[in-house]
Amino acid sequence: MIVNAEERGCNARHNLVDVMENLPKKHNFFRTLGTMELNISTCMGCHRGYQELWGNNLILDDAMHSLHYSNPNFTGNCLSCHDIDNDGNYVMWDYNKYTKFMGVSKVSNIQGNSVMTRM
Ligand code: HEC
Ligand code: HEC
Repeated sequence: MIVNAEERGCNARHNLVDVMENLPKKHNFFRTLGTMELNISTCMGCHRGYQELWGNNLILDDAMHSLHYSNPNFTGNCLSCHDIDNDGNYVMWDYNKYTKFMGVSKVSNIQGNSVMTRM
């Protein structure tokens, strides 16, 4: 099974502090967080969490789709950002990956031979 995990999710391509500084709507107060690495939860904390305060225009689907698909440097696809759950919903990879990798741990430098026996 190939999931291409390291090439997916916001942090695969972005330093989100820089992203926020360069967005059309300025978010530059985040520079004050220093060198802390931000992740999707930082964005969704407001963009999902403060919806009642700011309204539905905070939902990032249209903004994220158009910002990426209108950029010729974007060479990814839906699965760069999403995972598809068992019900066929487009969920965010950055959240779903934890469920997917439950029980799987990273092992370095595996050596050995692969043998396949035909019965
Ligand atoms: C502290 C709350 C907060 C955080 C955290 C935050 N945002 Fe925002 N964001 C806003 C607000 C408020 C707006 C302006 C909404 C408006 O004026 O319609 C906005 C606007 C945007 C827009 C423009 C939306 C549009 O439809 O034009 C984008 C894109 C965006 N944010 C992306 C991000 C990303 C990516 C992150 C994380 C790296 C992030 N934001 C983190 C509060 C936040
Ligand atoms: C650059 C990242 C990115 C790419 C590429 C992308 N999406 Fe999204 N998509 C998002 C974000 C961010 C949301 C908003 C998620 C949220 O608010 O919880 C979203 C939301 C959605 C939703 C709504 C999900 C829901 O239930 O709210 C659908 C459906 C969707 N995307 C389909 C697609 C399809 C199909 C493609 C490929 C053609 C695609 N997306 C490519 C980032 C992306």
